[in-house]
Amino acid sequence: MKVLITGSNGLLGQKLVDYCLAAKIDFVPTSKGENRNSKCPTDRYRSMDITNREEVMEVISELHPTVVIHTAAMTNVDQCELNPADCELINVTATRYLVEACNKVNAHFQLLSTDFVFDGEKGNYSEDDEMNPLSVYAKSKVDAEAIVVNESTTDNSIVRTIIVYGNAENLSKSNIIAWAKSALEKGDPLTIVDDQFRAPTWAEDLAAGCMGILEHNQTGVFHISGPETMSIFDLVIRIGNHFGMTTDQVSKISSSTLSQAAKRPPKTGFDLSKAYQKIDYKPHTLEETLTVLYPS
Ligand SMILES: NC(=O)c1ccc[n+]([C@@H]2O[C@H](COP(=O)([O-])OP(=O)(O)OC[C@H]3O[C@@H](n4cnc5c(N)ncnc54)[C@H](OP(=O)(O)O)[C@@H]3O)[C@@H](O)[C@H]2O)c1
Repeated sequence: MKVLITGSNGLLGQKLVDYCLAAKIDFVPTSKGENRNSKCPTDRYRSMDITNREEVMEVISELHPTVVIHTAAMTNVDQCELNPADCELINVTATRYLVEACNKVNAHFQLLSTDFVFDGEKGNYSEDDEMNPLSVYAKSKVDAEAIVVNESTTDNSIVRTIIVYGNAENLSKSNIIAWAKSALEKGDPLTIVDDQFRAPTWAEDLAAGCMGILEHNQTGVFHISGPETMSIFDLVIRIGNHFGMTTDQVSKISSSTLSQAAKRPPKTGFDLSKAYQKIDYKPHTLEETLTVLYPS
């Protein structure tokens, strides 16, 4: 197996680099611009802007991977809502370029997608539940999934995941766990939504899930998330309790009081049965991961 990773500077990308190094899997890390991950060997790194079709074709035909794991994306949902043309180019058109390149070299194409493809009315979604995207970002992932289903002529897989967290270097954005821990430490009053439910996902678990699909020769859609669905309010309280911090200053608010550009699904969370059965997926609880991320 030779794995080409898009978005190797991103959170999941960095964890896939770690996984490949530890498992001695041949891999090519690619991202836009310079390599910003000190653990990623510079002699393997290739700068690849996925919105540049020529560059995508050139890099993939030259390096001939057997698998492309496509993590790169425009991931800020409010920015996508405000800049729909950029979102379309990065999340949809670039996926088409990558699928086309994989078709040429007969590489498995794996797309990272999101719980936001669902409208959040039902919760505990399984892979064949009906999609109903509520935002520009969500719609871009539905469209990218359709490109995989309709245009890929090779083996392919789609990995949907839910708020991903973990430690990584030089990321362009923070994640909810790091943000909540640091906000609780400051002791400032916090207002947190209690009407959005998610299954937060440790980036290491997600990387193992992505690789597990390949290692078990699987194709198709997989739901890969943390094992527990909780409200964002409960998530913040659990982080506080884990670290023995006071949470008296944290109060509940409704999503309707926030002025966010993109609409969010109220209740997601995944039925993970398929991942448990087909790829022996073993996700960690929130507290297990906090112990690893922030050892005392
Ligand atoms: N994080 C979540 O909570 C979450 C939830 C559901 C689904 N997902 C999906 O999971 C995947 C991985 O998420 P993540 O958290 O690892 O995202 P991330 O940390 O934002 O990483 C995405 C990476 O893509 C790179 N990128 C952006 N535009 C690019 C371009 N034109 N060419 C090449 N690279 C480009 C970014 O580069 P820069 O670093 O230079 O900006 C970044 O390193 C994404 O597809 C996302 O939609 C994530």
